[in-house]
Amino acid sequence: MRCGVDIGARSVEVLLHDGTRTVDVIIGDSLRDPRGNAEAMFRQILERNGLTKEDLASIVATGYGRNYFGHATRTCSEIICHARGVFHLHPDTVTIIDIGGQDSKIIRLENGKPVDFSMNDRCAAGTGRFIEMAGDILGIPLEKMGEATRDGDDTVEISTMCAVFAESEIIGLLQGGIPRERILRGVFRSVAARTLGMAGGAGVAAPLVFTGGVARNMGVVRAVEAETGLRVVVPPEPRITGALGAALID
Ligand SMILES: Nc1ncnc2c1ncn2[C@@H]1O[C@H](COP(=O)(O)OP(=O)(O)OP(=O)(O)O)[C@@H](O)[C@H]1O
Ligand SMILES: [Mg+2]
Repeated sequence: MRCGVDIGARSVEVLLHDGTRTVDVIIGDSLRDPRGNAEAMFRQILERNGLTKEDLASIVATGYGRNYFGHATRTCSEIICHARGVFHLHPDTVTIIDIGGQDSKIIRLENGKPVDFSMNDRCAAGTGRFIEMAGDILGIPLEKMGEATRDGDDTVEISTMCAVFAESEIIGLLQGGIPRERILRGVFRSVAARTLGMAGGAGVAAPLVFTGGVARNMGVVRAVEAETGLRVVVPPEPRITGALGAALID
């Protein structure tokens, strides 16, 4: 049995893989105490599967908090782990877009190996945190965003390049009477455009797989499809691909 642990800025995933299939996975919050939460989730997954740490052939940690997980037998970069996890699920993948709570990345694969990547971990605009902030102002919870923006494609330009200033811009648009669904579509479009912009002139090619918590938001999935003109594939649980890849790394 192998274990993968992905400690992100917003969520932690702990996954068990037996070489053939995913045996169990726990997804939890990383807020406030990522290290303590990862530790508790690790103990819980062992206990409920009747295992001890010694039963694990490898424990690989990835994600932003990977160096804080004391049980890891090794750590591995997010790029390698996401690529490995997505390749396992969709072996024909050429482009991976991962948008999490605090960063966004685009990875290009050739025969399952990452050959190029770009990452934004310096600026909140273009990340899940930005969408959460917009949702707070607009009064639309994350789980309702996909449905709220489904009907219609009218949008609004969010011109500010900075998440902090965008907050005032959104408040201004609301005060100007722009419907909140339309503003939210504008937010999604700006997140999609920013993320895709990182790929530069080479652009993105199909098959395109979208992972990370933000891939649960159908509004953003539609915005990525509109921006690229490509069909976007979202795994059934897009948050676990990093932990899956970590569990599969040799
Ligand atoms: N039910 C949901 N519906 C829509 N969006 C969601 C939902 N749950 C989470 N999200 C989005 O996912 C984001 C968190 O993504 P994820 O859990 O992949 O982050 P992370 O891996 O911890 O962060 P990072 O990779 O940046 O370190 C949130 O900021 C939010 O925008
Ligand atoms: Mg992540």
